[in-house]
Amino acid sequence: MLILGIESSCDDTAASVVEDGRRVLSTIVASQDDIHGRYGGIVPELASRSHIEAVIPVVEGALEKAGVSLGSIDGVSVTQGPGLVGSILVGLSFAKAISFAANLPLTAVNHIESHPHAAFLYEGEEKDAPRFPFVALVVSGGHTTLLLMEGPTGYRVLGQTLDDAAGEAFDKVAKLMGLGYPGGAAIDALARQSDPGKVAFSRPYIAKGSLDFSFSGIKTAVLNHVRGLSLKDGEVIPEATIRDISAGFQGAVVDVLVDKAFWAAKRHGVGEIVVAGGVACNSRLRQRFEERARQEGVRLFIPPPRFCSDNGAMVAALGYHQLKKGMIAPLDLNARPTWDGF
Ligand code: KG4
Ligand code: ZN
Repeated sequence: MLILGIESSCDDTAASVVEDGRRVLSTIVASQDDIHGRYGGIVPELASRSHIEAVIPVVEGALEKAGVSLGSIDGVSVTQGPGLVGSILVGLSFAKAISFAANLPLTAVNHIESHPHAAFLYEGEEKDAPRFPFVALVVSGGHTTLLLMEGPTGYRVLGQTLDDAAGEAFDKVAKLMGLGYPGGAAIDALARQSDPGKVAFSRPYIAKGSLDFSFSGIKTAVLNHVRGLSLKDGEVIPEATIRDISAGFQGAVVDVLVDKAFWAAKRHGVGEIVVAGGVACNSRLRQRFEERARQEGVRLFIPPPRFCSDNGAMVAALGYHQLKKGMIAPLDLNARPTWDGF
């Protein structure tokens, strides 16, 4: 079964053709980082305009790269939300048009639920895939959420951020140190040249055993630390200090993400964890999750970086299961900018 997945919920226009929810025939992502980088954050109006420009070439490119025409596609899967309404509407309207014109069934997915489905996008044996139920940590610029994935469709929310998403905290800390936007990858690279113990920040656990997250306090702690350096007007933060702050901040955020994901697995009697979302590209996060999984005998899945950040393949992967269950979306379907409190 060949599914065309279309994703446009935030600032990436993405499309992909996936066979049976696993085999990726093509995946194309048009990033808008250059557009929003100038403003230090996403400008929603510019995001939706860029999606309009990109959606046709991206979808055509995905079909072409997969070597298929619309005639051989079995269904269209599209992100319905959560995200920026003007952005979602572009992909959603385009998917509806294709579905109507080519007489293909349409299914609409929850972006957060689709992220963990990136863990199924490989060509190994069935036995090496994640098995339901598993705990999923979705950690990106817009979301930090723990889910209990109960089956190929359906989930329970176990915890989520009460303020900033982890990626948002990375981006804000990067910005205040003059590292540009988005700054998660820059902090990751700088942190590798230092040690998390040099500038220690307290770990925001909220309350003992809580599965919710809060990252706005640590961002303020970094800001206060920088103010405490008493730099003169026009003086920049010394390179070595930026490296130490990056390592300290990243170390604290990663510790909390790892601990809570493993607490969630233990509490729900689950032996498998999937981590996805742009922050799952982080090298320390990947290393700490792997170490802990080995210690605790947990099966861990962190997709390769191109499937951690937003992509159309994860949308096609979840859409495949939804279509098999007959979850067909009507053509008067609307965007859902918020969904389950996300
Ligand atoms: O999932 P994603 O591509 O888009 C959404 O936010 O939905 O995630 C982007 C986020 C940004 O906040 C970016 O700074 C962060 O992922 N990110 C990283 C790394 N690479 C991307 N954060 C930490 N370390 C990284 N290596
Ligand atoms: Zn995302």
